Amino acid sequence: MTNMTEEERQALIDLANEARRRAYAPYSKYQVGAALRTASGRIYTGVNIENAAYPTSICAERVAVFKAVSEGETKFEVIAVTTPNGGAPCGSCRQVLAEFGLNTVVLIADGRGRLMKETSVGELLPDAFRPDDLKTSG
Ligand code: THU
Repeated sequence: MTNMTEEERQALIDLANEARRRAYAPYSKYQVGAALRTASGRIYTGVNIENAAYPTSICAERVAVFKAVSEGETKFEVIAVTTPNGGAPCGSCRQVLAEFGLNTVVLIADGRGRLMKETSVGELLPDAFRPDDLKTSG
């Protein structure tokens, strides 16, 4: 699915897991970390950041994507996501990732850095609503 070596995969997962320690999750106690590698080779990490007003919280994946986009990077190759139990990215994060391409590889790992699943944004979000869908003549 990707040209990444085993070492590269594990390195990205390890970065996500290191970031995970900085998760701000006092309410759910479910710490999530993400590490997003862009086409330029830069890596942006993210953690979930919760809030006393619960719905204001944001997921690790979106923090990583928003950090990258705000630095001018919109071409994504792979994102590693780590949770305590290997949980998969939520629907909102799938939608945000889909905006920037369906081919982005998604590595889902647990809190010990073990790869649970390798997939892609397109596989995680079939029939995604995408930028082209806004092009209409009607
Ligand atoms: N969470 C993420 O950071 N990413 C996901 O894809 C799933 C859920 C966070 C949100 C919240 O802070 C905690 O995990 C429990 O839902």
